Amino acid sequence: MSADDYKRAAAARALEFIEPGMKLGLGTGSTAAHFVALLGEKVKAGFEVVCVPTSEATAAQARALGIKLTTLDEEPILDVTVDGTDEIDGDLRLIKGGGGALLREKIVAVSSDRLIVIADAEKRVAMLGAFPLPVEVVRFGLASTRQMIEALASDIGCEGPLTLRLKADGQPFVTDNGNVILDCAFGRLPDPEALDDVLRQIPGVVENGLFLGICDTAILAGPDGVEVLQAENLFALDDGLDA
Ligand code: 5RP
Repeated sequence: MSADDYKRAAAARALEFIEPGMKLGLGTGSTAAHFVALLGEKVKAGFEVVCVPTSEATAAQARALGIKLTTLDEEPILDVTVDGTDEIDGDLRLIKGGGGALLREKIVAVSSDRLIVIADAEKRVAMLGAFPLPVEVVRFGLASTRQMIEALASDIGCEGPLTLRLKADGQPFVTDNGNVILDCAFGRLPDPEALDDVLRQIPGVVENGLFLGICDTAILAGPDGVEVLQAENLFALDDGLDA
């Protein structure tokens, strides 16, 4: 099976958590797109849900499949959000934002009673940080914000190149919120909470891709099958996780 098959298997398992009438958050990225596609099939067969998309791309996919969309202004509290991730550790801490939708993803996730993360098992890591941390920043004062991130991160031992994310045409990637993204290659992050804290002190930083204490359930699919990890059972499940 390919990584894409595993993503679809995780998405299919997540669908089992969804009940008729639920208000859902729809994530962004290739794994979330599998979930949206499978949900679309159920909706076509008469299943009723209402959904808040985390990006314009997901909104377009859902709309094309006939999935009913709403906004957080109409429905401020959602039942479940299903989203992908770039990395996940043994405490269900995440790095997200590879697809550039981290701000809306985090707003939608924390507006939901439950965040279910779906991924192929390759996304599981012993320690976060091999994937460069996406940080969404406003364009005004970009050089200044970049220097401040470098300085404050360095104070807590996080060092590495910050790269302005570009599109294929060489122009800066602009998020759905009109901001840009600095991909921060700090390497292994022994204390992601400390990094999250310092990034929050910088006015030009809108949000960062660390999702800490937000994920309730992780569904990871790989050669050994589909594994469901629950945040509340972490102590019991730790034995089974890579150290
Ligand atoms: C988008 C995200 C995605 O969930 C993350 O990048 C994973 O993407 P994929 O499912 O394509 O591997 O955070 O901002």
